[in-house]
Amino acid sequence: MKPLVNKIVCIGAGYVGGPTMAVIADRCPDIDVTVLDLNEARIAAWNSEELPIYEPGLAAVVSRARGRNLRFVGQPEGAAHVAAADAVFISVNTPTKTEGEGAGKASDLRYVESCAHFIAAHATGHTIVIEKSTMPVRAANRIKSILASARPGVTFDILSNPEFLAEGTAIRDLEQPDRVLIGGERPEAIQALAAVYTRWVPAARVLSTGLWSAELSKLVANAFLAQRVSSINSISALCEVTGADVEEVAEVVGTDSRIGPKFLRASVGFGGSCFQKDLLSLIYISESYGLTEVAAYWQQVVDLNQWQKRRFADLIAAPIADDAGSLRGRRIAILGFAFKKDTNDVRETPAIDVCRRLLARGASLIVHDYKVTAEAVSAELGARGVEFALSPEEALKDVAAVAVLTEWPAYATLDWGRLSARLKPRTVVFDGRNILDAAAVRRAGLFLRCIGKGAPHDR
Ligand code: NAD
Ligand code: UGA
Repeated sequence: MKPLVNKIVCIGAGYVGGPTMAVIADRCPDIDVTVLDLNEARIAAWNSEELPIYEPGLAAVVSRARGRNLRFVGQPEGAAHVAAADAVFISVNTPTKTEGEGAGKASDLRYVESCAHFIAAHATGHTIVIEKSTMPVRAANRIKSILASARPGVTFDILSNPEFLAEGTAIRDLEQPDRVLIGGERPEAIQALAAVYTRWVPAARVLSTGLWSAELSKLVANAFLAQRVSSINSISALCEVTGADVEEVAEVVGTDSRIGPKFLRASVGFGGSCFQKDLLSLIYISESYGLTEVAAYWQQVVDLNQWQKRRFADLIAAPIADDAGSLRGRRIAILGFAFKKDTNDVRETPAIDVCRRLLARGASLIVHDYKVTAEAVSAELGARGVEFALSPEEALKDVAAVAVLTEWPAYATLDWGRLSARLKPRTVVFDGRNILDAAAVRRAGLFLRCIGKGAPHDR
């Protein structure tokens, strides 16, 4: 049996499923692509002009393909599409378990398992089932055992095709990926999926491995990326006390071609829905095989990140707290709430931890972000002590300190000469992303503290 992929279904219309399927449909106009989701509001948004996620370039890709060979449907309507599909991607969330065995570390596979039941119930003939979600290594066995409950004569191949896109650059990452990874058992199934990607990705960039290597490689890729951020963030603290400058250190270290310059930006901490959950999953897997040293090694990457977020909040609090350490009566401007620029995603954003720590000490906050809504901020922080500003200027009213938590480019070009009129002289501006024009902030009579740089009088 030589499977050909003409009809695709993707279960899960989230940050991965939506953009990935939109790019496949855009690049392969003859392939019929259906994206289905339980969440009817999300499906309605995908079918509207207000897409449910903000991602540069996404709207144009969706508008080219939607209504031609790309559709977004609810789950009931999706069943018939699964029946007709040659390939079904599972692209649902795999969050950290909150209860039961492995709570706090292991990946919660209940959404994936429910997709496998749905596929087993509705598939006909032969179907390639593709893990697009990030899964623990050997999770394909769980999917296989559920698919075994399908009607007699219904057969499956299972592939692992983890996604490496980063939010904010998802369309570019999908259109020009460093690599596409396909793990599987039967070469025919691997080739059938590879034939979809090679319509626009050079064949040399389509890597194939065994199932377990593909599943594990995805976790390891995220762990290595997160490790680089924790590594440079650990050095940022050392720079602050020694007078070294973390940007200079990162530049020097990154020019070694064995190390490379990317992912060495010191920050308030890494965020996003995946780094911490995937590290925790790797840690849990290592522990479950008795590899305690391996687990402890990766745990340190998580711990350092938590420490960096606390450290930054405490740095903001230090010069403005009263003698008892309270921030009561202190108002702080928070510039940026998304976990990085060019996204409206606030999942695990470092801003949540920093803001909660400041609120717990009695501060009140006024938050600005270019893409995150007031509702998304109050869903994370509650309404007490939190206001939302529609512009950076508005956020600076009556504040004791200013903190930049997201590297939105527009913050880098703020006119501090003009803005300082709204601030008391020597108000401290904390740059958690090292993006501000340091000279302009200081010229405006303000006091600047940057991640990984000593106070100016030290240098
Ligand atoms: P998401 O939460 O944005 O989207 C998941 C969607 O799946 C939701 O809309 C949810 O309603 C839907 N869903 C859940 N169970 C369902 C079911 N049984 N039937 C139909 N729909 C169902 O998640 P995401 O950010 O797109 O991530 C999905 C997976 O991709 C995760 O495993 C994640 O680790 C991985 N991943 C994410 C990124 C990223 O940048 N967000 C990048 C690479 C990999
Ligand atoms: C990350 C990976 O980069 C993707 O390859 C992967 O597919 C994805 O996770 C996933 O599995 O979900 P993403 O989280 O969208 O993508 O964004 P990144 O650009 O990796 O940034 C993650 C966090 O690290 C952000 O908070 C960012 O600000 C921070 N970061 C990144 C730094 O603090 N310094 C850096 O040098 C780089």
